[in-house]
Amino acid sequence: MSERRSHRVAVIGGDGIGPEVTAAALEVVAAAGVALNTSDFDLGAARYLRDGFVLDDATLEELRGFDALLLGAIGPAIGDTRIAGGVLERGLLLRIRFGLDLYVNYRPFAGQAGSLADGHSFAIVRENTEGPYGGEGGVLRRGTPHEVATQGSVNTRFGVERCVRFAFARASQLDRAKLTLVHKTNVLTFAGDLWQRVVHQVATEFPGVAVDYQHVDAACIYLVNDPQRYGVIVTDNLFGDILSDLAGAVTGGIGYAASANLNPTKSGASLFEPVHGAAHDLVGTNRANPIAAIMSAVLMLEHLGEEDAARRIARAVADFEGDAALLGTSGVTQQIRERL
Ligand code: IPM
Ligand code: MN
Repeated sequence: MSERRSHRVAVIGGDGIGPEVTAAALEVVAAAGVALNTSDFDLGAARYLRDGFVLDDATLEELRGFDALLLGAIGPAIGDTRIAGGVLERGLLLRIRFGLDLYVNYRPFAGQAGSLADGHSFAIVRENTEGPYGGEGGVLRRGTPHEVATQGSVNTRFGVERCVRFAFARASQLDRAKLTLVHKTNVLTFAGDLWQRVVHQVATEFPGVAVDYQHVDAACIYLVNDPQRYGVIVTDNLFGDILSDLAGAVTGGIGYAASANLNPTKSGASLFEPVHGAAHDLVGTNRANPIAAIMSAVLMLEHLGEEDAARRIARAVADFEGDAALLGTSGVTQQIRERL
């Protein structure tokens, strides 16, 4: 019996395939011998449609106190117009990210066999609390011919610097230590200049890390044509959102892409979730790829200090050679369990 208390994990299965893939991930964690003390939170589109609840202060504070949060997916089916855009994104997911100060969105990618990035691993470190996601802006004269809408990008020295420092620290651990800043400094001259100067400054603390820069449009070409050039990409919230879907596609599909929304200071519980969405069309078909959720659980175990179990699951996933599309959710989960 372990003398450590079991880790308290809040599980937000959410919508669509979310509950299926989080269940698969929890099954694998248990098979790796880590006992979690889980509490389910019924949040997301289904909950909102049922009783109008998104998230309140009390629930947010309750979530803060867990050792980690594991989330499946949030969102209604495509074409379901009953929930206005932003209600769940801003009201639930971003509220958790901002409220718990999860300032890094760490998204590692491992090129699957046959993908454009076959055999190559790299990571995107996305600033997760600022940028165009910050909520700055508003509308005037809505619905009139003189309507005005602004949506500014917020970039603070403090916010950029803590994200960039995290990215350098990760890059410094790589065999080929390389960090690429991706931005649009030729057009977004105010924010771009801040990011550029912060990267130059923090680089002096990490002399072993090679530093590169690319405009975001060019990075879209290189990610497809030459993903092998990347080690760690560091970028702002919106560019990081877009690039991580592209990176998912280039490395074998979004069904493999995991993410960690991290508060490295631990003043709030970090949140672990697949990059993919709720994919309502796959519900109940056993076709959802659980690997993104399983790898998100690996990131969670690393964060919880369960390095050994994390390593064993990651190895089992890397050794897994089956066809996820043929094996389905349960088949993939079983094969990974058997390889532990
Ligand atoms: C992601 C998602 C979210 C984001 C949405 C659901 C708000 O696309 O985690 O990448 O834009 O960050
Ligand atoms: Mn996204």
